[in-house]
Amino acid sequence: MSISTEEFRAALSRFPSGVTVVTTKDKAGRLHGITVSAFCSVSLEPPMILVCIDKTTGSHPAFEFGGTFVVNVLNEEQSHYSNHFASLIADKFGDINYSEGLNGVPILEDALVNLQCRLVYNHEGGDHTIFVGEILEAIVKDGKPLLYFQGNYRKLED
Ligand SMILES: Cc1cc2nc3c(=O)[nH]c(=O)nc-3n(C[C@H](O)[C@H](O)[C@H](O)COP(=O)(O)O)c2cc1C
Repeated sequence: MSISTEEFRAALSRFPSGVTVVTTKDKAGRLHGITVSAFCSVSLEPPMILVCIDKTTGSHPAFEFGGTFVVNVLNEEQSHYSNHFASLIADKFGDINYSEGLNGVPILEDALVNLQCRLVYNHEGGDHTIFVGEILEAIVKDGKPLLYFQGNYRKLED
């Protein structure tokens, strides 16, 4: 027995999340960034997180072979970043403010949090791959996160 895609979406959309843009650089030096809500903590010691990325996305091969990636947690004013990095624009970094971190991977400097990670495991996750990264550097700012719930962006009320 299994559930339908609609039932899956209806169930999962009731679980609120933050929104991240996960960035990497491929072997040819091209920059990649993708909006990801499937992000969570894995381990405290060593510090590890995971992100789930759809195998059909253009960026997937870059994450598989890049070795380094950055999770940028968006603040409540950055829904435009989320829409931008969820789109099919060829050069997503043309008009974006970023600096270069480990191995030249882009860091969105005005995000709420930047986690620079070393890829440690790739796990099968159906039509997604579960990328587990060890956090090597963390930059944390004050502010509130952008939220995503039932297909809409939300803000914390207090
Ligand atoms: C709020 C939001 C959350 C998303 N979360 C994910 C996610 O967790 N994993 C994923 O693979 N795609 C997610 N996406 C979709 C990707 O961002 C989208 O497919 C993107 O265009 C892929 O870019 P690329 O093809 O250039 O790699 C999300 C999109 C939005 C708007």
